[in-house]
Amino acid sequence: MKQKNPFFLKEYSIDEPYCGRNEEQKDLGDYARELKHTVLYSPRRTGKTALIKRVQKTLSQEGAVCIYVDFFGVVSVDDIAVRLAQAVFAETRSRETLFRRAVKAIECFRPITDNNPLQSEKQADTGVELAQGQVSGMDLLESVLRSLGKFIYESSELVHFALDEFQEITTLAKAEQIETLLHDHIHRHAAAYTFIGSRRTVLCRMFTTASRPFFQEAVLVELPGVPAGKMASFIARQFASQGKICDPEIAEQLVSAVSCFPYYCRKLACIVFEYSHNEVTAEDVENGISLLLMYEEPFFEGVFLGLAPGQIALLRAIAREPVKSIFAKDFLRRHRLGSIGGAQGARKKMVMLDMIEFRQQKWWIVDPVLEQWLVKNRVHAC
Ligand SMILES: Nc1ncnc2c1ncn2[C@@H]1O[C@H](COP(=O)(O)OP(=O)(O)OP(=O)(O)O)[C@@H](O)[C@H]1O
Ligand SMILES: [Mg+2]
Repeated sequence: MKQKNPFFLKEYSIDEPYCGRNEEQKDLGDYARELKHTVLYSPRRTGKTALIKRVQKTLSQEGAVCIYVDFFGVVSVDDIAVRLAQAVFAETRSRETLFRRAVKAIECFRPITDNNPLQSEKQADTGVELAQGQVSGMDLLESVLRSLGKFIYESSELVHFALDEFQEITTLAKAEQIETLLHDHIHRHAAAYTFIGSRRTVLCRMFTTASRPFFQEAVLVELPGVPAGKMASFIARQFASQGKICDPEIAEQLVSAVSCFPYYCRKLACIVFEYSHNEVTAEDVENGISLLLMYEEPFFEGVFLGLAPGQIALLRAIAREPVKSIFAKDFLRRHRLGSIGGAQGARKKMVMLDMIEFRQQKWWIVDPVLEQWLVKNRVHAC
């Protein structure tokens, strides 16, 4: 039989094979049904978006209206307003009554549809254009939020919003005003919201700092890792489904090489599937890791472009030597990190970007593949 690689490399699709997470899926669904807001957080590439999409699929099958908005790369207040309106139109456009309700409620935008004959109606891109005479900036966002309130009020169905990378709103000018405005309206909406993010410190502080508007407004849900044994069996089964043998120990080796991060498990498995013969060997996994490091290099280099030399030096030092105190004189000297003041600034920024974390009494690089790349990459290491 022709062997088809079962590991996808494109963006997550709901039809992809999925491993475990039944409990988290059930909990998040239950919170939504009870109209409780939640904060879903975990490091990058660990499966938040995939999970919330599955939760929303289940809720949709029960009749709920589920709206997914991604705030990654958001650039302005207007952009937030556009993304919210667009997401509502995109979700409702295949259900006539709902779509009419959405169009009536959201007066400041008109939906425009880019009809591509190769896409189904559900997939077609839904854009928006500003209705004539409409405002901009905070007034526009306020208008959209008021409209959402109207839409929710007029819906007998459960309405669930997933706001992905929600912490990105804090990077905008007027961030405090935006946060307050969002809270003032969301607080009054009879809908369930899940706020999702990978910059854990920034996101969680929004909900745990007494002076912030969203203080104690949502249940904090930290997404745990998928148990390694479960992920290994899942991967072995995917190989078997296409007639390749991947013994349990080899699957475990693959999973542990990337600390069981779902994105990397999938990518490494995809590479190993491509280059292995009928039975996967330990050497195939080793070679796969080298290729994975090579494929991820442009991404890591892109991230580094936005960092200062002292921050890169700190990452390199921690990758090579996870340490209890970054400010210990020996550590600073050994890794040529300069002054304590400089290292303090670098640490603060790296925590904010969720690139380092303190666990098991030491500072570590969060991303297991970035860590390996930093250790191996001699060009950047001196
Ligand atoms: N439980 C799972 N089983 C199998 N594959 C998974 C699972 N969870 C996630 N994945 C895979 O890992 C990839 C990354 O997941 P996802 O995009 O959901 O992570 P994320 O935490 O949202 O990352 P980011 O913070 O970068 O947005 C997905 O494309 C998906 O294919
Ligand atoms: Mg995501």
